[in-house]
Amino acid sequence: MLQAQHHDLSFDDFDECISPRPEYSGFDNVVESAISRRGFLQGILSVGAASFVTGIAPYGVSMAKASDRFGFNAVAANSLDTITVPEGYKWHVMAKWGDVLFDDSIPFDEISRGDAQSQELSLGDNNDGMDLFVKDGRNIFVVNNEYVNRSVIFGNRETGLPETDDDVLKGKMGRGVTVMEVARLKGNWQIVVGSDYNRRMTPDTPIEITGPARGHELLKTSLDVDGILAQGTWNNCGNGRTPWGTYLACEENFNGYFSASDASYEQTAEQKRYGISNEDWGYAWARIDDRFDLSKEPNECHRAGYVVEIDPFNPTSTPKKRTALGRFKHENAEVVIAGNGQIVVYMGDDERGEFIYKYVSDGKFSSGGDNSGLLEEGKLYVAKFNDDQSGEWIELNPETTGMQSQAEICIYTRQAASKVGATTMDRPEWVASNPNKPELYCALTNNKNRGIKPNNGGDDTPVSGPNPRPANKYGQIVRWIPANGDHVSDKFSWDLFLLAGNPDVHKDDKAGSTNITPANMFNSPDGISFDNNGFLWIQTDGKYSNEGDFEGMGNNQMLVADTQSGEIRRFLVGPKECEVTGATWSADGRTMFVGIQHPGEDGNSHWPDGGTSVPKSAIIAIEREDGGIIG
Ligand code: FEO
Ligand code: CA
Ligand code: CA
Repeated sequence: MLQAQHHDLSFDDFDECISPRPEYSGFDNVVESAISRRGFLQGILSVGAASFVTGIAPYGVSMAKASDRFGFNAVAANSLDTITVPEGYKWHVMAKWGDVLFDDSIPFDEISRGDAQSQELSLGDNNDGMDLFVKDGRNIFVVNNEYVNRSVIFGNRETGLPETDDDVLKGKMGRGVTVMEVARLKGNWQIVVGSDYNRRMTPDTPIEITGPARGHELLKTSLDVDGILAQGTWNNCGNGRTPWGTYLACEENFNGYFSASDASYEQTAEQKRYGISNEDWGYAWARIDDRFDLSKEPNECHRAGYVVEIDPFNPTSTPKKRTALGRFKHENAEVVIAGNGQIVVYMGDDERGEFIYKYVSDGKFSSGGDNSGLLEEGKLYVAKFNDDQSGEWIELNPETTGMQSQAEICIYTRQAASKVGATTMDRPEWVASNPNKPELYCALTNNKNRGIKPNNGGDDTPVSGPNPRPANKYGQIVRWIPANGDHVSDKFSWDLFLLAGNPDVHKDDKAGSTNITPANMFNSPDGISFDNNGFLWIQTDGKYSNEGDFEGMGNNQMLVADTQSGEIRRFLVGPKECEVTGATWSADGRTMFVGIQHPGEDGNSHWPDGGTSVPKSAIIAIEREDGGIIG
């Protein structure tokens, strides 16, 4: 019953149903302070930014004289079941859910929608973060397969749920990471079927546990009594890329697959904070795999929620969970090399009222040298944003948190961050680093609970700093600059690059910042990536009703921002009920690869194959018709 009732809800909504948040009693106070904050907000948007001494143009002021560096005409919002790109650009599908990878793969079957075996040997579902690695002229594409949509992958069942054990396994095999060689063949990019590089990583692939938490009591299970070898990775959302040529897959909503066959199982407070519940999200993994039964294996859930490092060029290598980077609902991992050679990784924890983190390696990057320990030994910090647009990184160690060990901090990272007074954020999604200057951006996608109630077991979420709107429907992008341009510094200054909103429907702070207009409005920024020219590409995962608060926004989309002028222009509109997520470029900059995730999640799309076909997540290749550089 519960599963049938919930099977078409989004992750957020489902999580909330089975794990309701406590009501927050201070609502009146919050509204009052929000109103009084509007003056402050104006300050951030039109004056505050100008107070930075880093040379960044205050976008609220310079918009009127923004020069057009984009080189394309804006695409209008629409609700079509196709991809729309600007005049002068074209697109094609490079790879889609179920495409075969190996010589013995089984082609996708539209009626059954595949089985466990066919799914394990083909491209997984719901592609998200992605990156392209080039070696000896060969293009190795790595892409996360975040999750599956029950109503799509099990659409051959009347219930829209996994019914047989093979169905359950098919759902498991649809997740993880896909490595595939791709090539431009007959003009179009496509998978090189049978390439030696091709590989699937699934929730059953052995993965070494490294870093402070390796071997900790909380990571020991009956299958892995030493707590050093995890099985599998799943719900890989955004990604990262290291300067030494490895791929980082970030484990996000790992919690929704655990359940308890013994209804009297009591989750620990720490498990509750991570959304672990006695009921899963309808995928029934515990039915075929005891690892996901909390009453049998209470520690398995502590072995997920990490950043996983993968060598794209060695298909037999064992991926590594990097516990030093903390355990939370990782969005992406933006890696930069600090001026002194240390590696800094910026990361968001995507849940309402959770935090932004950074990791700083102890060692320094050595080009061509041994960099294998850089994500194993280092310091973990969490961000505190002050209302005066200053900020600080607070180190998470036993002294600052009062917790027993660094291992415990790397397992219960959310609790550690709460202990040091980090700033609760409006769902931190991707972080992007400007390639031209020390400057970071993070998409805070939305937070309907801002000022209303906290995350389960989390901290209060008063309207404050870079989270200035209560019950935030539209989201914003915060930007920060490390003190002295030094990524290792524990100080920074911040402003808001944009507040999404609807200036047609609202005249108050819900209209958004001055760089949001009726021609470019959108909601719920999520994926953000810089191209080599320093343009910021913004992808959305928001409401696509095109009604009410969202009227005029159409389907989810991708926009480009000129961070110098603040100007934002819509470049692409996705098909119905999709999310646009994941972006990377070919080595020559002439192709941009973009992810289209879960078209038709509510049953109203046949993209990309049309007719009566099953909708499929896909990676598209976008090019200029004149063959020019796109990013
Ligand atoms: Fe998987 Fe936070 O997006
Ligand atoms: Ca996302
Ligand atoms: Ca999202």
